[in-house]
Amino acid sequence: MRKPLIAGNWKMNKTIAQTRALIAEMLPGLTAVEGVEKVICPPYLALASAREMLEGTDIGLGAQNLHWEASGAFTGEVAPQMVAELCAYVIIGHSERRTYFGETDASVNKKVKAALAAGLTPIVCVGETLAENEAGRTAEVVGGQTREGLKDLTVDQMSKVVIAYEPVWAIGTGRAATSEGANAVLADIIRPALKDMFGAELSQAVRILYGGSVTAANAAELFAQPDIDGALVGGASLKPADFVKIVEAAK
Ligand code: 13P
Repeated sequence: MRKPLIAGNWKMNKTIAQTRALIAEMLPGLTAVEGVEKVICPPYLALASAREMLEGTDIGLGAQNLHWEASGAFTGEVAPQMVAELCAYVIIGHSERRTYFGETDASVNKKVKAALAAGLTPIVCVGETLAENEAGRTAEVVGGQTREGLKDLTVDQMSKVVIAYEPVWAIGTGRAATSEGANAVLADIIRPALKDMFGAELSQAVRILYGGSVTAANAAELFAQPDIDGALVGGASLKPADFVKIVEAAK
């Protein structure tokens, strides 16, 4: 019922030339896999070039951030319509943006609404830090980020949102959550929060991805879990053969 989605978050990696080379390398393998929604999210400056290369393929394009205002005096920022000219998706509230760039649940909420208004599919990131995890605060933190980040959306709006659960302690560490552990957060924390806010039907219809040290080796086990609908992949999305294997594992 929920179509699997695999998104590659390239983070601050790859120039335009490198982006073109990487897409050329992964395109044949990615387009060969059917039944999986496939998305890559290169840096802003490479998006136009990536768009050209993906034209006519079934690979979606996403940005890694946006601003919530439509235009104006916000030096260095990118507006939703600018993203929507090139992309169908946008990552919002990644933990690196929360940690290094002061993003809050309130800014995430504004960005989600602005992205939806521009016709984009937001991929909204939530996840607890190691200290929060060890203090037994995962439910409070992840539940809170879900409730605050998605506050005041209509059911119709929420039906277009994708959530990514990315425990901060698993990102770039080579230490992925266990498949059961990740599934439990989705099943026992995120979907119940969505049920409270938007109703039972929607809570089962929303796609929730796992992110954090997903590799070609652990992907299949993660995707075998009932509540995990795909992955937001960092490091391994820059390795064509590995990324294609992860997409294949989601089939
Ligand atoms: P890694 O896959 O490199 O751990 O990164 C995960 C991530 O942050 C994706 O958004």
